[in-house]
Amino acid sequence: MRISLTSLRGRFLLSILLWVTIGIGAIWYSAISLFTAHVEDLYHEELEVHVRELAGLTQLDVRGNPRLSRPLSDPRYAVPLSGFYWQVTREGYVTLKSGSMTRGSLDDGIARSPEILHRIEAGPSGPTIAYGAIKKTAGAAPLQFIIATDQRHLQRIISNFTQELSIWLMLLACALIGSGLAIITFGLKPFARLARAITDLHSGKTGQLEGVFPDEIQLVVANLNAYANGNAAIVERGRVQAGNLAHSLRTPLAVTTDEAERMLENDAASKSARVFLAESERMQRQIDYHLARTRSGGSRHGVGLSAKLMDAVPPLIAAMKRLHPSVDFHVKGNASHAPQIACDPEDLSEILSNLLDNAGKWANAVVEIGYELHGDAVDLTVTDDGPGIAPSQYESVFAIGATLDDPRCGSGLGLAIARDIARDYGGDLTLAAARDGGLLARVTIPTPVGRT
Ligand SMILES: Nc1ncnc2c1ncn2[C@@H]1O[C@H](COP(=O)(O)OP(=O)(O)OP(=O)(O)O)[C@@H](O)[C@H]1O
Ligand SMILES: [Mg+2]
Repeated sequence: MRISLTSLRGRFLLSILLWVTIGIGAIWYSAISLFTAHVEDLYHEELEVHVRELAGLTQLDVRGNPRLSRPLSDPRYAVPLSGFYWQVTREGYVTLKSGSMTRGSLDDGIARSPEILHRIEAGPSGPTIAYGAIKKTAGAAPLQFIIATDQRHLQRIISNFTQELSIWLMLLACALIGSGLAIITFGLKPFARLARAITDLHSGKTGQLEGVFPDEIQLVVANLNAYANGNAAIVERGRVQAGNLAHSLRTPLAVTTDEAERMLENDAASKSARVFLAESERMQRQIDYHLARTRSGGSRHGVGLSAKLMDAVPPLIAAMKRLHPSVDFHVKGNASHAPQIACDPEDLSEILSNLLDNAGKWANAVVEIGYELHGDAVDLTVTDDGPGIAPSQYESVFAIGATLDDPRCGSGLGLAIARDIARDYGGDLTLAAARDGGLLARVTIPTPVGRT
């Protein structure tokens, strides 16, 4: 799974990871601190009881030497080097030691007040926590009681707890992250559906965003649908108005042209008449060009358009065969396998009919229609076996009204219109030399994002 910070999923996941890490870390730290303080208190309490027991059991014999009336109740003081030691000293008299202290002795510096004190110091088997107190006696030297336990005993209790707590908290963190992931996936599902609905709209499968979405997204969907409908209506109105304007100019232009042709016969005015005629022709070409452009659905690009090559091509081939009976038009491969093209069917027909008409006019015998699917676009090619075009003119023939010097040339609009339509869809039309010298025209129409 790829996590990127530009995605909602990535952001949510990162937030959950941070949240869980900080939360679990805080629980871990505070639980260990509390437990350590609590266990230390209990430990000190218990060992202070041992000091008091030791003091209670110590008696002085007739010579003033200390002795125990009975062993301490905790048997660990009898096991050699168990880590539990006691010692009773009286300056100038015999020192008593626990059976566990088979080597070394305890520093009696800690036993200096009747109150029990404790500190860390070196012991017979490693660092110890030593507790000490004194008890005054009839003589000058007081009795000093020292109990010491290896620090490792306390540390083992704390580290066992830390280990178990860490495992449990790790499991808890995994469960929290797992449930967080499930929540993110569940919560973001409507966005994936929305993306699919937009792709369907974009690719022409639907004319509206379809499906039921959560309230927060439903509002966006309703607005988008209203926007798409409004846009389509505005574009449609614009097309109708541009068409009306072009049609309304046709008649006056025809009258002007007619008048100019009549003026040609008059020698005095023939020069002006020719200018009139040339300009009228230019106007006519512009009108034809813009009329063709308003018919194009390319301006509605992205609002539910889709065309099939196998639907568009057969009627075009039938028409071309009538216009250019000596030329063989055919599709390379199986047109029914051709991918859907994200383009208005009328626009696809307009592009192909211009290219096929050109190819038919210049071909010797064969015109071939091909298609190729790339990851993000469909390429349509129209190839003829005619004379082709010099590469230096590949760009100039796209200008409105541009033709090469040949009687077959028409008004010079076809390529310009075809390329404009392709570009409306974010695609392009390019020319190249075919393998056998003819012209290869390639139309690229991008596939909407999310659809291949
Ligand atoms: N397949 C081709 N082989 C050779 N020359 C071509 C081919 N297609 C186009 N041309 C050249 O490019 C020019 C421009 O083509 P375009 O389709 O724009 O105009 P047209 O075919 O002359 O007129 P219209 O298409 O408006 O009827 C043509 O006049 C022709 O000289
Ligand atoms: Mg043409």
